[in-house]
Parts: sequence; structure tokens; C-alpha cells
Amino acid sequence: MAESAKARGTGIAKRSPEYIHKKMEEGKAVIALTTEGTWVGFCYIEAWEHEKYVANSGLIVSPPFRKTGVAREIKRKVFELSRKRYPHAKIFGLTTGLAVMKINSELGYEPVTYSELTTDEEFWKGCRSCVNFEILTSKNRMNCMCTAMQFDPAEDARKKAELTKTVVTEDGHIEHHRKREFEGNFKLFERWVRFKQFVLLKGWKKKEGDSGKKPSILNFLFFW
Ligand SMILES: CC(C)(COP(=O)(O)OP(=O)(O)OC[C@H]1O[C@@H](n2cnc3c(N)ncnc32)[C@H](O)[C@@H]1OP(=O)(O)O)[C@@H](O)C(=O)NCCC(=O)NCCS
Repeated sequence: MAESAKARGTGIAKRSPEYIHKKMEEGKAVIALTTEGTWVGFCYIEAWEHEKYVANSGLIVSPPFRKTGVAREIKRKVFELSRKRYPHAKIFGLTTGLAVMKINSELGYEPVTYSELTTDEEFWKGCRSCVNFEILTSKNRMNCMCTAMQFDPAEDARKKAELTKTVVTEDGHIEHHRKREFEGNFKLFERWVRFKQFVLLKGWKKKEGDSGKKPSILNFLFFW
């Protein structure tokens, strides 16, 4: 996971092999394998703040199996596992990856501010090993390069009730049509994430004395 984060130039909250091992033993992990037993992918969950929150972390798919829908399937299983073990918890994840944001939004997660996430110090301690930790602390833990996405079961139930339209078809069947507001705006959301990361990174580098220059319009257009 750490090598993969390095390769794509993003940060990662490092975990020890023992920690990951424990997740597997506790049944808090989803492991994807081929029928021959080749490792394909992984993700784990952890509850925080007396089970008020559940984080989905460490998603990774083995490179030869990428872009075939494995991550989507793992995240679906992880979501089911989180709902089953902690039915009242808010489920969240922090990510810089657009693939994950897309999958999350399909599952009903919505982008939230960091203030809506757990305040459990142990969770945030995990970010100390990330290369972007200074950005997180400089923003008083209110923002960073990752986008926070959260599924709130109470909010979801309320929205489902609001957005479900009951239609009686011509042949007399009753159909319930559901509409999710967020999915239609994904392109705009992607752009917003790139812009946020651009602004955060520029601001941070400037503070570090890297350039001191204002972001140029060309840089901005590149990120947009
Ligand atoms: C990110 C990662 C988990 C995606 O796994 P995957 O199995 O290839 O993803 P899927 O095939 O299930 O793709 C799901 C969706 O994301 C899209 N997607 C996949 N990789 C993408 C990428 N690098 N950039 C943008 N979109 C991507 C797919 O096109 C698909 O959308 P579509 O169905 O609308 O076409 C995998 O590339 C990986 O392990 N990367 C390194 C570790 C990492 O970044 N983990 C996430 C940390 S939060």
C-alpha cells in the first residue's frame, strides 16, 4: 500500500503488518482472491468513538486485476460488513483517489467536511505517518489533500423516504422510483477536488518557502 501511494505521489496513513493481521483475525477485513488462491485485493474496517463511526481503509487492488471492477466489488462487501457489524454507525473514508470517490458515491456516501468525521484522537494519530500530515495540522485538522466521504444511516433513511416516488403504472403495478441527488454532479465534484488539492498544495508549499509565487493561471488550468 505504501509503495503504491508513493508511486502515485499521494500520502498514506501507514499501518503495521501486525495491525492489518489483527483486522483479518477479527473479521474486519475483505480479502479478494482468485479461485486458485492468488491475492487480488484488500480493504479493512475499524470502529471509532465507541462505534459511532466506522472507517473503511487500506483499499488496494493488485495491479494485474485493476480496472475490472474488483475495487467496486470489495467496497460493496466492505460496506455490507460495516452495516452488518455496526448498523447505527456513520461509515466514512478519506481518499485522494477518484476511483474510490466514484465507488463511494454509488454506495450512497457523500462528501463531508472533516468536522463531520470522528473526533477520536486514535483515528487522527494514524495520519501522522502521511506525507501530508503538516497540511492537516496547519489546517487545524479541518482540511487536507484527502476528500472525506461519509454514509450516514439516519440521513440515508430520511433521504430515501423523501426521494422515493411511488408510481402506479398503466397495467396497475406499483413502482417505487428512487433518485440520488449527488450522483449526477460527479464531474463537477471531480473538478472541485482537483481545485481543492491545488489550492492546499500551493498554500502549503508557499508556507514552506518553496516558491512564494502566486499560482499561475496555467497551473490552475492544468489541475482544472
Ligand atoms: C484505486 C484502485 C483501488 C481501483 O481499483 P480497480 O479495481 O481498478 O477499480 P474498479 O475497476 O472497481 O473501478 C471502479 C471505477 O473507478 C474507475 N477507476 C479505476 N481506476 C481509476 C483511476 N486510476 N482514476 C480514475 N478512475 C478510475 C473505473 O473506471 C470505474 O469506473 P467506471 O465503472 O465508471 O468505468 C486501484 O487502482 C488501486 O489499488 N490503486 C492503488 C491503491 C489506492 O489508490 N487505493 C485507494 C486508496 S483510498
